Amino acid sequence: MSFLALINNRRSIRRYQQKPVALDNLLKLTNAGRLAATGGNRQPWEFIIVHQKKLVDALFPCLAWLPGDGEPPPGMEPTAYIVILGDPQRSSHYQLDCSAAAQNILVAAYSFGLGSCWLGSVEWHKVRGLFVIPDHLEGFGVISLGYPAQEVKIEEGGEARLPERDKQGVLKLPKRRFIEVVSLDRYGQSPKPEDSNS
Ligand SMILES: Cc1cc2nc3c(=O)[nH]c(=O)nc-3n(C[C@H](O)[C@H](O)[C@H](O)COP(=O)(O)O)c2cc1C
Repeated sequence: MSFLALINNRRSIRRYQQKPVALDNLLKLTNAGRLAATGGNRQPWEFIIVHQKKLVDALFPCLAWLPGDGEPPPGMEPTAYIVILGDPQRSSHYQLDCSAAAQNILVAAYSFGLGSCWLGSVEWHKVRGLFVIPDHLEGFGVISLGYPAQEVKIEEGGEARLPERDKQGVLKLPKRRFIEVVSLDRYGQSPKPEDSNS
């Protein structure tokens, strides 16, 4: 798959096969996060790879899943995670840098055939205790990982609303149309169809 296709076809996955993710892949994904763009090269991030089954199971109840898609049912939970922590002492806008790291991890995961989901709704007080996170670091997000067990299809021209599952179990994810969000040279001036193949 081309790099552009990896970016465009990656979707959030919330149903996983119960097949472990190799630690080597998790190390590579985390490295992709470490090398993301970062304002002033401040690198205000740290990562915790969650690989051990006992810890993977313990992290699951600390997460909240998108209402439209629901949380993974029993037997379809993620099989690994990467916890992203921000360091406000290194940068007051660590969230921006951590976002770049998170997106790198999502796309890199997809390149390995893995499904992933960026989880911002996290019970950090529990996660802090679970992984003995030091006080100077802030919880930023959790990336769930595992081999996908769900199909997601984009619905072009939809509203920015929650995705819904159809009768076949396919998640329909509405995306705002390209011409609705992109101007060419002047705000509100839409690119013509021949200007884009999106
Ligand atoms: C900052 C941020 C926080 C998110 N938090 C959650 C979350 O807590 N739970 C969840 O199920 N999905 C979460 N998501 C995933 C979004 O719901 C998902 O990206 C969105 O529905 C678009 O779908 P797509 O990633 O397949 O394009 C989050 C995404 C971002 C960027």
